[in-house]
Amino acid sequence: MRMGGAVFGLKFIIPLAIVLGLSAYAVVPLVDDLTLRWFVKDLDIRSSLLANTLQEPLQESIAERSRRKVVSLLDRAARDERLLALAFCGPDGNVQYKTSGWPAAVECRDPQVEGAAPQPLVKLLQGPVHVKRSRIERDGDYMGDLILVHDMSFIERRSADTRKYVVVLFAILGIVISMITVFIAWLSWRGWITAMKGLLRGELTPQLGSSNSSPAVQPLLSDLRALVHELNLERRQQVGSGQTWTPERLRELLRDELAGDEILVLSNREPYIHQRTADGIEVSRPASGLVTAVEPVMRACSGTWIAHGAGSADRETVDKNDRVQVPPGQPSYMLRRVWLSKKEEQGYYYGFANEGLWPLCHIAHVRPVFRVTDWEEYVAVNRRFADTVVAEARTDNPVVMVQDYHFALVPAMVRERLPKATILTFWHIPWPNPESFGICPWREEILKGLLGSTILGFHTAFHCKNFMETVERYLEARIEQEASMISFGGKLTQVEAYPISIAWPEDDRSPSIEHCKLEVRRLNALPATHRIAVGVDRLDYTKGILERFQAVERMLELHPEMIGKFSLITIAAPSRSSLDEYQNFEARVRALAQRINSRFSDGGPAPIILRIAHHDHDEVQRYYRAAEVCMVTSLHDGMNLVAKEYAAARDDERGVLMLSQFTGAARELAEALIVNPYHIEQGAETLYRALTMPEAEQRERMRSMRALLKDFNIYRWAGRMLNDAARLRRRERIQAKIHQHSEPALLKRVV
Ligand code: G6P
Repeated sequence: MRMGGAVFGLKFIIPLAIVLGLSAYAVVPLVDDLTLRWFVKDLDIRSSLLANTLQEPLQESIAERSRRKVVSLLDRAARDERLLALAFCGPDGNVQYKTSGWPAAVECRDPQVEGAAPQPLVKLLQGPVHVKRSRIERDGDYMGDLILVHDMSFIERRSADTRKYVVVLFAILGIVISMITVFIAWLSWRGWITAMKGLLRGELTPQLGSSNSSPAVQPLLSDLRALVHELNLERRQQVGSGQTWTPERLRELLRDELAGDEILVLSNREPYIHQRTADGIEVSRPASGLVTAVEPVMRACSGTWIAHGAGSADRETVDKNDRVQVPPGQPSYMLRRVWLSKKEEQGYYYGFANEGLWPLCHIAHVRPVFRVTDWEEYVAVNRRFADTVVAEARTDNPVVMVQDYHFALVPAMVRERLPKATILTFWHIPWPNPESFGICPWREEILKGLLGSTILGFHTAFHCKNFMETVERYLEARIEQEASMISFGGKLTQVEAYPISIAWPEDDRSPSIEHCKLEVRRLNALPATHRIAVGVDRLDYTKGILERFQAVERMLELHPEMIGKFSLITIAAPSRSSLDEYQNFEARVRALAQRINSRFSDGGPAPIILRIAHHDHDEVQRYYRAAEVCMVTSLHDGMNLVAKEYAAARDDERGVLMLSQFTGAARELAEALIVNPYHIEQGAETLYRALTMPEAEQRERMRSMRALLKDFNIYRWAGRMLNDAARLRRRERIQAKIHQHSEPALLKRVV
């Protein structure tokens, strides 16, 4: 900042100095000319005065023809310092009397002497002189002329002085102007920087894309967006040391920094589910942000992924150790399945995790339910998974990556059994404020469990802050805010923000945009020119699906010309459907879609097309590529990867992303149209704006988001965490060595 200020100052001061220097150069001759005029005028007056004074005595002396008197008169007058010489010219034009020092070059009839006023300056050998001729008359008779010659060489000296003063004056002026300007610039720069810091912290981000912004400020917002984006890139560039993260780079990191270390991932949801169907066993990938993010990392680094085997054909597809190589067809890592009884699943997964922790951490106005029986199952199942981690570990110091709120107790449980393990825990959902979290009857146990981690990651700095405040409120722990460290029970936990992302699609094997557009419209029986928005979620009350429908309804009320020409296709993967809350939610979603459709369909295409079913990756991609708009309207979301997937799928740089301000993604994708999903009117107008957005603006926004996502991909997310883990492991090894060497020395001293 200081350096930047100095450079900024120089950039301003150097041109200013040049301009002022040139001005001084132009002004000096003007000042010279002006002062010369003043001096000449002054000498004219002096000469006239002197001539008047001498008029009478001169007349008398000449009339007396007293040479002595005339010469003494002229000599006395010539004592004046500036007066070089005087002479009296007779009517015949010859010099009759003159003082010593009379310049021979000046003659009575000299044309320059004639009418001295217009050209009083004569350049002589000894320098410039001022010559003035005055008529001497007696009673009207012309007697001759008195010629006064003034020395003007002092003018050159004065002119040199003037030049010096002018230059000094301009220099002082320059310094004063520069200082004032730099000071004012510094003040505005500080204001600007403060505003920018606010933007970077995301404080103003939601307003950037707000549809409420007046058209007059849109260009400015556009510039700001670009600037924020550049600054974000720059900042993140430093964090990720510039180079793009790829699977190869991640593998290199594992080879170089964590050489030979084994990686174990633990999550509830498995990355591949085997289901028994009428056509035999089918394998699918679940609709889960966690799986979307972690799976490509596991492909890159091999290792073992431990998860709940929930598929109906899962048991048939594992070996005797409950393991199966995945992905099917191109195995690159091991999936270790853990079996849970219905009772365990009910208490741990449906009960404590999804009726308790899920609503507790999301502000979606659904009350958390905490039952002792659920808690007991949660503890028991966490113990089962911790035991499995220990059993799978081939070394005493593996890198264990614990995923999500299903396993809050596992880090401490693993730490107990494998004290040298590096435990990276990532909390994929938001972390609430201390008051909200305090509702949980087992809040201390949850916090202690998580503090078994070496590194605890959240999507945003805001969630980290909430976590640290929660620990401060409920545990006796030492918190080092600056270092983002918590010391509890003699162990340190680093708390960091690692915004999760997606694998950037490198191989361009997806069908063309045109093909996808036609195909999606054909599948949904829509005309080829029909405009489409898409929403892709698990069928969950946190996703703002009802609010999204209401925004569509309001948009059609406000812009009836869109009726029959636009549909929102909602792809909702059924989720946690055995819970009442989710069943009720599904019923409300269906009812609202039906009501809106009956209001606006009128025999034509329905404005809301609801597809409550699991869709595989390729199908979802097709919808992304076909839709003019993607609506992400979560009421609260840790990150939301649908937003990132949509932008990544649009290699044509078209399409508009509508993004809830309550997602972690909104902190990064400022070029999306950011909305408050609770504000239906705003949602309606933003949807209309998205549907009518000029192509150039779509391109500008998409290009910027895609550039960011390409670089800030899932490999960077994993790479940053593993890098931090490697750093901490190195530090621990060094400390262990120091300890080893200092122990005997200490012993000796004690003995
Ligand atoms: C979302 C959340 C994840 C969570 C997952 C669970 O994707 O972002 O944090 O693990 O839901 O979904 P599931 O269907 O497995 O309950």
